[in-house]
Amino acid sequence: MSEPRTVITFGTFDVFHVGHLRVIQRAAELGDRLVVGVSADALNLRKKGREPVFSEAERLAIVAALKPVDGVFLEESLELKRDYILEHGAAVLVMGDDWAGRFDEFGDICEVVYLPRTPAISTTALIEKISAGS
Ligand code: CTP
Repeated sequence: MSEPRTVITFGTFDVFHVGHLRVIQRAAELGDRLVVGVSADALNLRKKGREPVFSEAERLAIVAALKPVDGVFLEESLELKRDYILEHGAAVLVMGDDWAGRFDEFGDICEVVYLPRTPAISTTALIEKISAGS
């Protein structure tokens, strides 16, 4: 019997929305099991310059509860992608196409797939919309 094909993807998944759901559903279809790296609060603060609305524990719990997700872990550093891919034995790395080309360096250890983002929705836009009360 052949090894199950593991897919790995990464994200903040703050203020969980349908764009997040769709990327997770499509990623899961590319293999037999899906593991998701949820970025740590400290990493977010460094990367996006603000604290996430939901804590890393809450974001991990939400993503872990999704049917297509087989496992979650905390992504502590952007520099550790190669280690995470190897640690989880991932055959496929999925990223949103806002990152197109940026992860091609991992093509030596797995397939790298960029999926188109769901149009017209993002956590940032949702926070702005809710803050504006519109
Ligand atoms: N994503 C997507 N479609 C969207 C928004 C996000 O496919 N409309 C995907 C991203 O490409 C990524 C994953 O969801 O693979 C997690 O993205 P994240 O940065 O957490 O979500 P955003 O809504 O883009 O957050 P922000 O506005 O804070 O950048």
